[in-house]
Amino acid sequence: MKIARFSRVGFILAAAGSAVGLGNIWKFPYITGENGGGAFVFVYLITVLAIGFSVMLAEMLIGYLGRRDSVTSFEELAPRHKGAWKYGGFMSVAGLLIMTFYSVVIGWIFHYIAVAAIKLPDSVPAAESAFTHMLQEGVLTQLVYHTIAFLVVTAVLVRGIKGGIERLNLILMPMLFLIVGGMFLYALNLDGFSKAWAFMFQPEWHKLTSDSFVTAVGHAFFTLSLGMGAILTYSASLPKKSSLVRSALAVVALDTGIALLAGLMLFTFLFEYGAEPSAGPGLVFISLPAVFYEMGILGNFFAVIFFIALAFAGLTSAVSLVEPMVQYMIDRFKMPRFLAAVTVGLFFYFVGIIALLSNSSEYGQMLTFGSRNFFDWIDFITASIMLPLGGLIMAIFVGHIMEKERVESILKPQFGKLFGVWYFSLRYIAPVGLVTVMLHLMGILTF
Ligand code: PHE
Repeated sequence: MKIARFSRVGFILAAAGSAVGLGNIWKFPYITGENGGGAFVFVYLITVLAIGFSVMLAEMLIGYLGRRDSVTSFEELAPRHKGAWKYGGFMSVAGLLIMTFYSVVIGWIFHYIAVAAIKLPDSVPAAESAFTHMLQEGVLTQLVYHTIAFLVVTAVLVRGIKGGIERLNLILMPMLFLIVGGMFLYALNLDGFSKAWAFMFQPEWHKLTSDSFVTAVGHAFFTLSLGMGAILTYSASLPKKSSLVRSALAVVALDTGIALLAGLMLFTFLFEYGAEPSAGPGLVFISLPAVFYEMGILGNFFAVIFFIALAFAGLTSAVSLVEPMVQYMIDRFKMPRFLAAVTVGLFFYFVGIIALLSNSSEYGQMLTFGSRNFFDWIDFITASIMLPLGGLIMAIFVGHIMEKERVESILKPQFGKLFGVWYFSLRYIAPVGLVTVMLHLMGILTF
């Protein structure tokens, strides 16, 4: 089976498009706010460097050498026990699950583009009640926008790697960089900027709890799209003579750069107008619209381009969440791409509706199990358990199972002397970090 190949820039933009998503612009600022700022950012940055980069490269290597869907790639590269290792590739189910709520959130963003253009809420309480109203009563509105997200993503997937995914990223990613960069430059001149800088980069260690430590590690995985085969599947289409090391560095740098720029920009606006940084998931949907309102017509303009950028970030990540499953069905079951894309699309569409309804006042009760509703359960199980577990499997696979000579023959020429440092961190640091996080989550290890 011949797999289409990205161009070199196409690959970097597609992988960066996968990594830079709602995680960077929606989630990172609010979890930074909730977890007290600087100390949390510090732990997150260390994790990205020490664990994130190592696992990203491992995941790229599996795709690049395997050249197939994630299941087949694992199977082919395992020196023994192929039948067992192929299950490593099934972690791509996580992407499909994430997509069920991711598509709903992209829907909210579409709705907010319209809100930003027409009428911004005039205060934080007004913004809060508008957001809560949309969640609890606006089932139809959400359904319409969730349907649009489903249609766009499925249409891109149907067109495949070159005509769909590469083209989408070549257009949307530069626009996203321009918008975030431009808004950052504007924020740089506001008084709130120095406060935002202090909030994000001056660690107050006492604010760091063991939970925020675990959140930071989980988020590092989520934001880099690691542990579920997105990067792996894209890497199967890498051009032949690519430098994996350089590509991984570029993707990690772009992802981290955008998260930091977006965070600084958002907190500047919030501090400038006296809003709270710890508002939680509603941060960009509640505090920010109210702040933009204060800025008058310029605020409407900023709000519109901000939500457009957020939609772009979301869409480029969304296609990468489900492409692994699509590729799997094409490779293993010889399904035509159209059929595979539509099947996968319909799955996340319908399960997404359950996620959407679980926030509503009418069906919320019915769809709440224990401490969380359906929507939050999926978020928790995927981001906190499945991705770290997938990352652990990849680290062990490349670090301990694949022949060292094979790994070395590809990466040593690209790394030079630093190969040993990477290999060590993949073999020991990443697994220990990931196991610690998982044990803590299960309540077995407390610190
Ligand atoms: N990295 C994306 C984000 O930050 C989410 C994602 C996770 C995409 C896993 C693909 C795979 O929003």
